[in-house]
Amino acid sequence: MPLGSSNLILKIRSMKLSWTLYLAPLLVAFVKVASLDDPPAVCTDSESGSVVLGSEGRVFVCIGNAWGTICNDDMFEEVDASVVCKQLGLSRFGPTIKPHYLLSTYNGPSDVLMDSVECSGSEQRLIDCDNRNSTNIPCDHGEDVAVSCLQRRCVEHDIRLANGSAFEGRVEMCLEEVWTTICLESWNILNSRVLCRQLGYRSEGANTPANIPGPISMPIYSKQFHCSGHERRLFDCEKSGPSPPLCNHNHDLTIQCNSTRLCIEGEVRLAGANSSSGRVEVCVNEEWGTVCGDGWGNTEARFVCRQLGFSRFGEFIAYRHTQAHV
Ligand SMILES: *[C@@H]1O[C@H](CO)[C@@H](O)[C@H](O)[C@H]1NC(C)=O
Ligand SMILES: *[C@@H]1O[C@H](CO)[C@@H](O)[C@H](O)[C@H]1NC(C)=O
Ligand SMILES: *[C@@H]1O[C@H](CO)[C@@H](O)[C@H](O)[C@H]1NC(C)=O
Ligand SMILES: *[C@@H]1O[C@H](CO)[C@@H](O)[C@H](O)[C@H]1NC(C)=O
Repeated sequence: MPLGSSNLILKIRSMKLSWTLYLAPLLVAFVKVASLDDPPAVCTDSESGSVVLGSEGRVFVCIGNAWGTICNDDMFEEVDASVVCKQLGLSRFGPTIKPHYLLSTYNGPSDVLMDSVECSGSEQRLIDCDNRNSTNIPCDHGEDVAVSCLQRRCVEHDIRLANGSAFEGRVEMCLEEVWTTICLESWNILNSRVLCRQLGYRSEGANTPANIPGPISMPIYSKQFHCSGHERRLFDCEKSGPSPPLCNHNHDLTIQCNSTRLCIEGEVRLAGANSSSGRVEVCVNEEWGTVCGDGWGNTEARFVCRQLGFSRFGEFIAYRHTQAHV
């Protein structure tokens, strides 16, 4: 937009800029720069429907290759903000909607592209909520929606062992961003196998030792697992419910996995020598195996170094006992 055009001045007036700017429209040139946090005018097809938070938490949504803001028409409520936060991978609980009178003036290129947003809370994306989207929303940027979200308290379906060690303890699972305990009722060895593998340990000899009760205030997961043994995560196992009446914190599941660590497919480690030099081993089928050094050179060595998180400027040392060393 050419500076000084009548077009610009009209637009500025509609944005309710302060009177000093009305009086000195040329000064506008200095503020007509969006904050670094705000998106540019355009978005790509692959960003369609995505949301970002600009400066002060102003919500921008990509509709039809343009980033636009949302009109806070008094219908934008916590449930709507919770969908924004969920879509951003943040906690869907406890979002704050910033009162529009506390928002500073927006000087960027985006238009208001959405209003009358009404979410049920189960939507994965804001544009899946009931809304009106058009290029003629009768709102100015002074009424933009801005939210702030909380970090998630845990990652959905993650497992951790509490009050024990890395391979034993009370089992806690993340459900709806809250840690829950699991009921020991109808637990079986196939479940243990999946659980221990998810934690990165072997399950041979796994058992469920004396229960370590969870904090009284912690919820208890209300279903029972029926794993076939091959699932990657406990939560992927078949489940039935509701929980039997015996489920209380005196029946929380406590597990002890075999302390032998499993390896993760494709993981690389250096054995022997010292932490920055040694024989290359690769994880294949949950077992560590060595790599034949035939044909190895500095290129391969550098690739391994990078995978191990070291500087890529490593070098191939030698074949020793037919294994590659870097
Ligand atoms: C815009 O609104 C129309 C009519 O409500 C709807 O069909 C369309 O899916 C919406 N587009 C986006 C990107 O939300
Ligand atoms: C036991 O685990 C809980 C988390 O479930 C933690 O808050 C508490 O501090 C732990 N207690 C001890 C003694 O480690
Ligand atoms: C742990 O796993 C190793 C390796 O598979 C096995 O040799 C060992 O017997 C297991 N430990 C127990 C207590 O079962
Ligand atoms: C690791 O071992 C290599 C080869 O023996 C040696 O050159 C290097 O200095 C050692 N690095 C450390 C940190 O000890």
